[in-house]
Amino acid sequence: MRTSLLALGTLLAVQLAGCGTPSVPSATGGAGGAPGSGGSSAVTGGAPSSGGAPASGGAASSGGAGGGAGSGGAAASGGGPGGGSASGGASSGGGGAGSGGAEPCVVDHGGEIPSLKDHFADHFDMGAAIDTSYQNYSALLTKHYSSITAEDQMKFDALQPSEGNFSYGTADQMVTFAVQNGMQVRGHALVWHRQTPSWVFNGSSAQVLQRMKAHITAVMQHFQGKVKIWDVVNEAIMDDGTYRSGSEEGNDQSSPWYGALGVDYIKEAFIAARAADPDALLYYNDYYNYHPLRRQAIFDMLQGLLEEGVPIDGVGLQAHLNLAPGTDPDEQSSHQTVANMEQAIEMYSSLGLDVQVTEMDISLYLRGITYTEDMFYTPEKVTAEVLEQQAERYREFFDMFRAHSDVISSVTTWGISDDNTWLSEFDSGRQDFPLLFDGNQEPKPAFWAVVDFCN
Ligand code: XIL
Repeated sequence: MRTSLLALGTLLAVQLAGCGTPSVPSATGGAGGAPGSGGSSAVTGGAPSSGGAPASGGAASSGGAGGGAGSGGAAASGGGPGGGSASGGASSGGGGAGSGGAEPCVVDHGGEIPSLKDHFADHFDMGAAIDTSYQNYSALLTKHYSSITAEDQMKFDALQPSEGNFSYGTADQMVTFAVQNGMQVRGHALVWHRQTPSWVFNGSSAQVLQRMKAHITAVMQHFQGKVKIWDVVNEAIMDDGTYRSGSEEGNDQSSPWYGALGVDYIKEAFIAARAADPDALLYYNDYYNYHPLRRQAIFDMLQGLLEEGVPIDGVGLQAHLNLAPGTDPDEQSSHQTVANMEQAIEMYSSLGLDVQVTEMDISLYLRGITYTEDMFYTPEKVTAEVLEQQAERYREFFDMFRAHSDVISSVTTWGISDDNTWLSEFDSGRQDFPLLFDGNQEPKPAFWAVVDFCN
């Protein structure tokens, strides 16, 4: 059923576009230059686990890139206006988010690049993470997004670099931009084990607790009325489902919050946040929610906190994904399936919590493969096939998100276009191309895949 709809869509797209083959935009542009000159570097595949260096030590294995690419060629139908005869995409939808039973429909964007936020208006807010260069992207941002998250500028170290000295300048500008353009702001993140100055943890437990509360109170009240959604606690759970305590070794994995305050730091943060701004919505945010152990541990934690009366309104799923699930059953990415993520959404929403997808990107690299410099993608080396595979993966996840739009209130990508992604910012110099827009701020096949549905 699905395949035939897609095939029909491809056919219609070709006919309506009036040109022989649907165009697949190539990933031109980008940050320029080959990655890391000098010295060969090898990096294991995949999106890094939250803020740190890409996880190393993965045994090399065969590609196992998974299938899917190409089968749904309809995603490539777009190409947008501006391409001479390549008018905007018309392709099959399948309206009902893959749940079956939906009437076939034909998506016709009328030769235009549709606005994401308009196209998804009946489903959820569309968000993007922005950094200090956001003004270079203002046209894309205002056309497509109804929500923004500051990538780093509202973290603890940015807002309170030394005790009692708050530094709101950049964050204020970003929030003003959002408010002027009618966008929501996701405040990210009040309590996290990373990007928090060491002074916070010098002293007694009582001092650390007092500083945590003071930070939450000052920051939330500063942005009151403008920032209505906060990631109050970020990444409290480890891959094995235990709490991120103060004792993990290396790579910035341990939580000095837990080290100083024990597990109660989580509830104390939410309680302080509710008191600071009773109208704000309070979220717990974490990654790898598709991993059964993590998924369950986060569920258990949230359930326990809610039973205790701790004020939590929602849960954020970061959704840093790879082109395909990994092949090593002992590695988190082997669980990286739509079904596993869907189960997390169902579990969390069964607690009455709102769900937001907060940091989505789809890395072109696969976990379990050691990438040497000669294997790094550059704008020139990214093939149409890879972009199609990425598009299909985006499509599958968005189809599932739309099927749950009764409980999902926003979907945010971690960045806007491929010339500015945290996945290209690691020491290896490896460039990645994980977003919906390419380095020239043009829609990628992934963009056309996610808007390929009828409202
Ligand atoms: C990342 C930023 O994108 C980078 O610029 C920064 O160097 C490290 O942090 N999970 C989170 C985000 O919750 O805050 C992280 O953001 C990405 C992983």
